[in-house]
Amino acid sequence: MRQTPFLAGIRLPDATLSVYDNHIVRTLSSMREQYQDRRACDALLRDNDPVLYQVYELRRPELPGEMYFGLSVVHPGKVGDEYYMTKGHFHTVRDTAEVYHCLQGEGVMVMETSEGEWAVEELRPGRVLYVPPLWAHRSVNTSAVEDLVTLFIYPANAGHDYGTIERQGMRKLVVERQAKPVIIDNPRWHLEKVD
Ligand code: F6R
Ligand code: ZN
Repeated sequence: MRQTPFLAGIRLPDATLSVYDNHIVRTLSSMREQYQDRRACDALLRDNDPVLYQVYELRRPELPGEMYFGLSVVHPGKVGDEYYMTKGHFHTVRDTAEVYHCLQGEGVMVMETSEGEWAVEELRPGRVLYVPPLWAHRSVNTSAVEDLVTLFIYPANAGHDYGTIERQGMRKLVVERQAKPVIIDNPRWHLEKVD
């Protein structure tokens, strides 16, 4: 592991990072439960298992003071009328924030707290989004043709809690209506009791 300063190069539009040591490829079968339209999901899965998004990151020691960074690349596509999106997560260490810099494409970041607050921000090239501590986050690609490419930076000790979102999805869904992205309520969502 590098313990001296180092550079990494980002190349667009193919969205490559010159150095990385972790490459995550997430396909539809691993997110089957997250899409509203089960029938559309199963129909897609009968043909193949499309890649929804990929993450390239540099591993660091998971210690306070260290940072993780890398590229998140969400491909264009839909399952029924719901756009391709990331799984979405809270950070296990809840008081850790994250910065996203949009480099390419069009999309939104869907965010929520466990108290039921929610926010959706549009991602466009050049925009920088600050996701504060305690906010779960999911990126959604709303373009029909282009990858949504973001650079993310977050504390290396943050960890990922996927379980909470896996149980019932996020409070808001992003779907296409008359060729435009629209935010709607997720019918499966309810405020979970925190013990
Ligand atoms: C890290 C982070 C991003 C996401 C990536 C994929 O804390 O927010 O690197 O991990 O955009 O999304 P998930 O992890 O939700 O599958
Ligand atoms: Zn995160």
